[in-house]
Amino acid sequence: MSQVVIVALGGSLMYDGDIIDEEWINAASTIVAQSAATGTKIGIVIGGGYRARKNIATARESGTTNTFDLDLVGIEATRFNAATFATALKTTGASVNETIPTTTQSAADTFATNSIVVMGGTVPGHTTDAVSINFAVDSGASRCTIATNVDFVYDKAPQTNPDAVPFEQMTLAELQAIVGPPEHRGAGPNVVIDPIGVQVAIEHSIELALLNGKKLDILESCLAGEDFRGTKIEVK
Ligand code: UTP
Repeated sequence: MSQVVIVALGGSLMYDGDIIDEEWINAASTIVAQSAATGTKIGIVIGGGYRARKNIATARESGTTNTFDLDLVGIEATRFNAATFATALKTTGASVNETIPTTTQSAADTFATNSIVVMGGTVPGHTTDAVSINFAVDSGASRCTIATNVDFVYDKAPQTNPDAVPFEQMTLAELQAIVGPPEHRGAGPNVVIDPIGVQVAIEHSIELALLNGKKLDILESCLAGEDFRGTKIEVK
């Protein structure tokens, strides 16, 4: 099979505040389509972003306290966003899946008929970071790229710690020391990379990369297999 590249596009990339960012969606889908045109199979996992946050908050306000049920609300948002991104990709003429797979194994199987496969969440208990790393495992990819709205993995949260130190290179063990043990921390936004996904990466020797997907030139370089600004997370 041709080379398989798996990229998680964090839901925050799909929104500009509380509105869907059509400009980013159109530009990002064009980059993905161009990369697939070179013969690479591309798996895209889309996060929930504003839609997940808002819908989870609404469910909490109406009395839902159960994490499983709140996760289901988040999953619906990721699948809605995935369908939106897949539709944008289709307008480029790229070969994209018609329906959104609900498991990473069925997503991997879909590469038999499409060069680009777009999906969202799967089951409660983790986030789309973990989904993308499982997708890498199931489709035989050796690396998974997490595109989010920060430039690097930092030693502590850069939003609240102005002295946070960015990593250009690190190991999976060093990343795990930062994100913590593989536990689901509840529905809604959390640490920089889902610790459950990090554990899967350790168990299956999947290299990770993190970059700022709002900066489309960086996403483009990464998809082209060129050096890019961000954190490269090696197996050892
Ligand atoms: P996201 O993957 O967008 O996670 O899924 P996130 O970390 O909250 O958001 P970003 O990436 O920082 O924008 C949204 C929510 O949907 C549920 C979780 O509750 C998650 O927080 N979810 C998602 C699942 O339970 N399972 C999945 O497979 C995916």
